[in-house]
Amino acid sequence: MASRVDALYFFLVGLTIFFSLLIAGLIVYFAVKYRRRAPHAVGERQHGNMMLLEITWTVVPLAITMVIFVWGASVYFAMATPPPETLNIYVVGKQWMWKFQHLDGQREINELHVPVGRNVKLITTSEDVIHDLFFPAFRVKVDVLPGRYVNLWFHATTPGRYHLFCAEYCGTRHSGMIGDVIVMEANEYQEWLSGGAAEGSLASAGGKLFTDLACNSCHRPDSTGRGPVLNGLFGKTVVTQAGEMVVADEAYIRESILNPSAKITAGYQPIMPTFQGLVSEEGLLQLIEYVKSLGVQPQLEAR
Ligand code: CUA
Repeated sequence: MASRVDALYFFLVGLTIFFSLLIAGLIVYFAVKYRRRAPHAVGERQHGNMMLLEITWTVVPLAITMVIFVWGASVYFAMATPPPETLNIYVVGKQWMWKFQHLDGQREINELHVPVGRNVKLITTSEDVIHDLFFPAFRVKVDVLPGRYVNLWFHATTPGRYHLFCAEYCGTRHSGMIGDVIVMEANEYQEWLSGGAAEGSLASAGGKLFTDLACNSCHRPDSTGRGPVLNGLFGKTVVTQAGEMVVADEAYIRESILNPSAKITAGYQPIMPTFQGLVSEEGLLQLIEYVKSLGVQPQLEAR
């Protein structure tokens, strides 16, 4: 994204320099050219085409700003839309650290390891206040909000170590909420992944939590449970009691755990208790990954 952002930025700087010089130059030129030459001289009336003048100085700036708008919007949409195939990593911001959670189970604090040349999607949320995850070298940043998942994606092109910052004032030690992103060659990254803690994948931790919280007493793999079947749910469209259609994405599963009565699946009773306060943000991510893994069970090995 960096080259696209830079191109737009340099265009704006160039445009600003051009008009600054043009206007300053004209001021000096006119001041000299039309200066009062005799002590009692009086200015001459100008008879120009007012209509043409009005149209020109309306249409030219409009055209320029439209170029900026369309160009800026295209960069924005490219940033806001992650490509379909991404390596997903969860991010939890809290006062005052960044916690990164890889799908294979590795966790990191204020350090993020990613492979070079791959689309990486960060699914972010906050445990407390609004933070903002900023990778200056990649020219991407995103507000990290409590109670929501916000995505950010990038495609690192050069191995190395780059800064990452919190870019939203979030309390006393906001300025210390910094870290590094380490971009590695694919094979080094694989090595790093396998060298991590043997905590098991996010999905398997979620599976354990699922049993610990007794979710499995109602959500059974067949339709004998009192809750909806979760196998194959992720990514599907769910019809709610109110007749609404919702896509079962991360945000929906999160909401259904914390506020189960918000969107009841058609045909089920609102009997599920809330798990607000019982499951941490990391626990939620584990549960979400577990539900996802139920959806893709046949290909689980291939991941
Ligand atoms: Cu977190 Cu500033």
